[in-house]
Formats: sequence, structure tokens, C-alpha cells
Amino acid sequence: MSTMRTELSFAPIAGIQTELLAVLAADTQTAKGPDAKPQLTLLTADPAVQAAAATVLGTGEYKAGANEIVLLHAPAGIAAKRLLIVGFGKLAKATAHSVRDAAGTAVRFAKPRGIREVVVALPSSDGLRDAAAVRAAVEGAFVGEFDADTYRSDRKDQRIQLFTLAVAGEADRAAVEAAFAEGAIVGESQNFARSLVNEPGNKLTPTILGQRAAMMAQEVGLGWEVHSTEKLHELKMGAFWSVSQGSPEPPALIVLRYEPDGVKDGPVLGLVGKGITFDTGGISIKPADNMERMKYDMAGGAAMIGAMRAIALLKPKVRVIAVVCAAENMPSGTAQKPGDVQTAMPITPDKPGKTIEIINTDAEGRLVLADGLTYARQLGATHLIDAATLTGAISVALGKINAGGFSNDDAAYRKFEEALAISGEKFWRLPLGEAYADLIKSDISDIKNTGGRWGGASLAAEFLHVFAEDTPWIHLDIAGTAWVEDSRPFIAKGPSGIGVRSILEWVRSYQ
Ligand code: BES
Ligand code: MN
Ligand code: ZN
Repeated sequence: MSTMRTELSFAPIAGIQTELLAVLAADTQTAKGPDAKPQLTLLTADPAVQAAAATVLGTGEYKAGANEIVLLHAPAGIAAKRLLIVGFGKLAKATAHSVRDAAGTAVRFAKPRGIREVVVALPSSDGLRDAAAVRAAVEGAFVGEFDADTYRSDRKDQRIQLFTLAVAGEADRAAVEAAFAEGAIVGESQNFARSLVNEPGNKLTPTILGQRAAMMAQEVGLGWEVHSTEKLHELKMGAFWSVSQGSPEPPALIVLRYEPDGVKDGPVLGLVGKGITFDTGGISIKPADNMERMKYDMAGGAAMIGAMRAIALLKPKVRVIAVVCAAENMPSGTAQKPGDVQTAMPITPDKPGKTIEIINTDAEGRLVLADGLTYARQLGATHLIDAATLTGAISVALGKINAGGFSNDDAAYRKFEEALAISGEKFWRLPLGEAYADLIKSDISDIKNTGGRWGGASLAAEFLHVFAEDTPWIHLDIAGTAWVEDSRPFIAKGPSGIGVRSILEWVRSYQ
């Protein structure tokens, strides 16, 4: 995990001695039309920095488009060795989320160039220098710092050793410091989730995922338990077990508990994650093309583990339980078969578990989540949120742009939308409903695990709804967004860590 140190500076920006000072520039042109040229404004009040940047900003070569950069060596009149100008696009459209990306862009510029320290100047414009922007800047620096090439034998150490956020002018220092510390925790937690998702299936089995979660829990003071086969049988988790039965790797039922002092009533939030450490499809085996990607099929579980880390460190006044169902989905002589009927975990021991006809063994995520949701409810969760790389169909619906959100409870989902405004993550709500539920009725049992080709993301969500029942519940389908396919200026190709920040904020909204 990243060991990047972080610091705040309230000193005048021109005097900061550093390898790289990054300042932001925006286009303040509001007129439209063919004659409306970009009007560049440096978002730093410091006159010496303004003077150093004036020539290049005047050339018209540089347009300050979002994350567009220009570098000046040995800038006159300022102490930094290099001045990096990072574009912000149109100022009118800029938000704290643009600050997050800009900070990431500065860090990712520095990394491959052997630059080991980066100072980012917080924009001086109103609305971009508040606590949200401070927090976003640090988060962005951590997001940018992460690279996926951990197993390259000649891997060069490209880590940024010191990231400094420079806050000039009048500032409420206590508020800035608090937001800064928070941003570091959130950024590190997101990277922790990404580091788990990045691990290949042979290195991160369900057992190892359980160990990594337990180690983290130990470090930050969460309660934890990691169970395996025996406990699955004891709890009658027939749906979860059916996925795991084809693999010699035992499953892991990972439980993390956050119980803040003095909070004895109010909601108990249940975070449930899909933790398939490799998804071959099972007997309904996947085609070979891109199958290697299926090591990421535990990204929902990793998001919950990452969010729990941040929760433990930020200490909201609300109880939280995370349940991650980890297994490998493999074809073998012991694997489940299409047509098999499985019995899911009963909500109470005296009730029968719901029966599921397995149509396609590749629809395994909903099976492990079914028992995970039931277990979270049995442990006392009053509100549920799950995250899963659940369907290819979500990418067809929303592309790689938005992740999918589903809910049986408008109030809970409204809170999630408020969380999105803080996290900057993109989720789009999609429908549930009886008409979808009808499509997963089985001839032989209560339900079946697939319902045909159309509306696959809603069908999967409706399957989970059967187990969430009336408990307020949100389902996040992150199959299209948990992996960054092409690197961006502010984030490397590889695991995105999506979900961590939004789930954290949703949790905090209940405190
Ligand atoms: N882990 C996959 C979802 C997935 C598929 C993510 C493709 C990224 C790319 C999930 O377990 C799965 O295989 N879902 C099936 C469901 C189908 C059999 C109903 C899918 O989406 O194809
Ligand atoms: Mn699958
Ligand atoms: Zn899967």
C-alpha cells in the first residue's frame, strides 16, 4: 500500500521550495461562438506565480482544457524547481470534483518522471477552496498515486514520497486540517480496495481475502470474524455454498463490525459485498476472451472492506456490519450443474429457505449475495447496501460511465444520491418491479437464477430483492466501472475503487 506522506502548507506559494508546484488554470470565457477564444485565468492569487505563468498563458497554445497540462522549468521569481499548470476546463463548470482530478493529474505527471514530491496549490476561487475541495484534492492525490504493476520484476519505484496541499490566503485552519485528514483516510481506503481488486486469483483466494480483511480490521480496531465451509453449512447457506462447492479453495464468510461507543440504538447498516475471487462461470463456463479480467469479481467485496476501513478511522456515530461472501466459481466434478436446485439460508431457523433453480452457473454473484443479505439481516441490519460486479448487462445499459443503482426504498436511495454529491462517483438508478420478478419464477422451485437476456441488470437486482424483502436496501452493480479500461490523466488503468467513497458517505448520512 502507498506510503505517500501528506502535508498541509499555509505559506505563501511562491516561496515553497519543491521539485514540482502544480497550479490550476481555468477558461473563464463565457461567450460562445466562433470568435469566443479561451480566456485563461490562473486560479492562484500569488502575483509571482501569476507572473511566471503569464507568457505561456498568453500564447494561446495552451487552452486549460480539463486536465490539460503545461510544464515550466526553473520558473522565474518562485522557489519551486518546476511549475506545472493543470487545466480545469470552463471555470463555470468546475467543482470540488475537478480539484480531485487535477490533483491526481499532477501526481501522475510527476510519477514516471522521477519527481518524488508534489505541491498542489488549492484554487483561490470561491467555492473551490472549501472543505470539500481540500478533501477532494488529497483524495485525488492518492487516487493518482496508485499503479497496478505490482508484480513487474523490474518495477521502478515511482512512488510520490510527499504530497503537499498549499492553502494560501484566509482560511479556517481547523476546518482545512480536518478535511485534509479526512481526505487522506478516504484516499488510502479507496487504494486499499484497489490493491485487493488488483490481486490475481492465484494470489488472492477467498482465504487470503479473509486474512487481508482481518489484518486491516485488527489495524484500525474493527471487530472481525472469518468463517468457512463449516459455518456455511451451520447457517444453511445453500446458495453461497453452491458456488464454492466446485473449487478446492474453501469459501470465506467475512464479517466486519463497527460498533461505536455509546451508540446502542438507531439503525444498523449492513454492507454486503460480492467476493468472487475468480469467476470462470463454472460449468456454464465463460469464453476465454478477457476471462483474466474476472479476478476483479470481488470488487464489490473490496469496496465494502475499503469503506469499513474509512468508517473505522472516521468514526461516524452509527453501527455498521459488513458481510463479504468470498468464493471461487470453478467448473469441476464437484461443481453445481444447471438444473440443480439449491436452498438459500432461511431468515430464521424455523422458516424454510427459499429454493433456487440454477439455470446458469455463471449467475453466481446473486447466489452468494442472497445468503449474504439474509445473514446481514439476521445479524440485525435495519438497512442494507450491497455492491457487486454482477452483470455484463449493466455495461450494455450504462457503458463504463455510470454504475447502476437499484433500491426498494426511495428514502434510502435519496440519501445515497446525497452521498454521490460528496463522493463525485457516478451511479444511475434503474428499475426494479413485479414485471421483472415474474421473469425469474421457476417451474420447479421458488425462483431461478436467470430470466433471459433482456434487462439482465434489473433481473439480477430483482433476484436480490427476494432476499432483501422489505428491509430498506440499495444494490450497486459496478461490473462496468470497477475496472478502468484506459488510463486517464488522473487515474491508472486497472481497478477503480468505485463505491468506497459513496458507501462511506451513505453510512455517514445515518449518524
Ligand atoms: N461477474 C460476472 C459479471 C460480468 C460479466 C462482469 C461480464 C464483467 C463482464 C457475473 O458473475 C456474470 O457472469 N453474470 C452473467 C449473468 C448471466 C449468466 C445471467 C452475465 O452478466 O453475463
Ligand atoms: Mn459469473
Ligand atoms: Zn461473477
